[in-house]
Amino acid sequence: MGRSAIVLAAGLGTRMKSKQHKVLHRVCGKPMIIHILDELAKLDLNQIIVVVGQQREAVEAVVSGRADIAYQAEQLGTGHAVLAAMSKLSPDAKTTVVLYGDAPLIRAETIERLLKEREDRQAAAVVLTAQVKDPHGLGRVLLHSDGRVKRIVEEKDATNEQKSIDLINTGIYAYETSDLVHSLSRLRQDNAQGEYYLTDTLQILGEEQKSVFALSVQDEEEIASVNDRAQLAHVQQIMQRRINRHWMLEGVTIVDPDNTYIGLDVAIGRDTTILPGTILQGDTEIGEDCVIGPNSRLTDSRVADGAKVEYSVVIESEIGDSANVGPYAYLRPGSRIGPRVKIGDFVEIKNSSIDEETKVSHLTYVGDASIGKRVNLGCGVVTVNYDGQKKHRTVVGDDSFIGSNVNLIAPVSVGDGAYVVAGSTITDEVPSDGFAIARNRQVTKPNYVKNWKNRKPVKE
Ligand code: UD1
Ligand code: CA
Repeated sequence: MGRSAIVLAAGLGTRMKSKQHKVLHRVCGKPMIIHILDELAKLDLNQIIVVVGQQREAVEAVVSGRADIAYQAEQLGTGHAVLAAMSKLSPDAKTTVVLYGDAPLIRAETIERLLKEREDRQAAAVVLTAQVKDPHGLGRVLLHSDGRVKRIVEEKDATNEQKSIDLINTGIYAYETSDLVHSLSRLRQDNAQGEYYLTDTLQILGEEQKSVFALSVQDEEEIASVNDRAQLAHVQQIMQRRINRHWMLEGVTIVDPDNTYIGLDVAIGRDTTILPGTILQGDTEIGEDCVIGPNSRLTDSRVADGAKVEYSVVIESEIGDSANVGPYAYLRPGSRIGPRVKIGDFVEIKNSSIDEETKVSHLTYVGDASIGKRVNLGCGVVTVNYDGQKKHRTVVGDDSFIGSNVNLIAPVSVGDGAYVVAGSTITDEVPSDGFAIARNRQVTKPNYVKNWKNRKPVKE
C-alpha cells in the first residue's frame, strides 16, 4: 500500500509583504517548508513532491535532494497546484496526502493518523479539521447529518450563516489517489477568487456517492498556518514553547521560557540553567551543569560541562569544562577556550586557542593566537595580528605573564614561563623564562609644572 505526499509551495504569500517566499521564512531557525519535510521524513512514504512556482529557484534550492519538484507556472489555486503535481505522481501510491507549505507545526503522528484513517475506512478522501475559537479567514467545513463532509466553503464565498461555523479546514487531506486524480479533472473556477480550489474535490467526490470524512485534530496548535507576519510570530511562539518544554522535561532549568530561544538542532545537558534572553542557534551543544545567559547568543558552538557564559556572543567556538566567559565577551569563529579558563569583560577572541586555566580577564583582543596553560594576559593586551595585508600568528607558552597594555606584534612568540612587562610593544621573540621590557624609560622633571605655570608672560 504505497503512499505519496504533495506539498504546495507555489504561491508567494502576498500577505507576508516580503521579498522572500513565504515557505522560506524561518520558524525556530528553519524554513517552514523544511519543518514539513522533516515531519514527512518520519513517515513511510514512497514519494514527496513539492509544487513550486513563484521564486522557484529559491524554493528548489532549499528543498533540493529531499523531494521531487513539480512546477506550477501560474498560481490558479490550490486545486490547480495539485494538478501540476500529477505528472510526477507515482502510480503505485494508493494514498496521497496533500499539505500546504505554510503550516509548519503539523506532526508526523497526526499525518500518520490521517493516512491510516483513509486506508482503514477505504475513504475517497479524509480532511483534517479543527474546531477553533477564531475561524476567520479559513475554509469552513460543512457536514452531512451523518458526519460525512458535504463541502468546504472559503471565507470569501461564505454566507454569514456559514461564517459562524467554527469547524475549519486545516489544509491537510488524505486521498485515494485515483479519486484525487479524477476529482481534480472536474474542478471549476466558479468562486469569488476565480481559482481552482482543492477543497471543491471533496464536494465533487461526495456528490458521486463516495465517502469523504472529516478527522478532527487533537491538538489545535498543530494546525496554525502563516499568511502574515503576526501569524508567523504566533507559530514561532508555539514551536518555541514546544522546544523549551522538551528541554525542561529533559532536566534543563529554563527560568523564563517565553524569553528563551532554542533552535531545533541544539542539545542541552541536565542541570544546566538557561537564563532569560538567551538564544541558542544552529548546531550548538551545551553540557551538564552549565549556566548560560542572561542575554547571550551562542551559534554553532560547543560548551562543556560546568561552564558559564554571561552576557556574551559565541560563534563557531568551543568552551571547555568549568570555563567562565563574560560578562560582555565576544568569541568569534575558531575560538577554543580550554577547561577552567577565564574570559572576562570586553574580551574579543578570534581563531585562537586559549589553554587550560589561563586568564584573560579584561579589555583584551586575541586574534590568530595560541595561548598556553596558566597564562595571565593582563588588562588591555592586544595581539596585533594584521599588517594591513596579511594575518599573522602569536604564540605564548605555558605559565607566561603578559602585563597590562602589551602589544604583541605578530608574527611573534613568547616562550614558557616568560615575563613581559606592562606597556611593552613586543616585536621580537621572547625565549622561555625570558624577561622582556620594550618601552621608553620614564623621564621625570621635578617642579617642572610649577615653574611652567609661574613663567612670566611674554610682552607683546
Ligand atoms: C487554504 C484553504 C482553506 C484552509 C486554509 C488552511 C483552499 C482553497 N483553501 O486557504 O480552506 O482553511 O488553506 O490554512 O485550499 N498555493 C499554490 N498554488 C496556488 C495557490 C496556493 O501552490 O495556485 C499554495 C500556497 O503557496 C500555500 C498553500 O497553497 O502554501 C495554501 O494557499 P493559501 O493561499 O495560503 O490558502 P488559504 O487562503 O490560506
Ligand atoms: Ca494559507
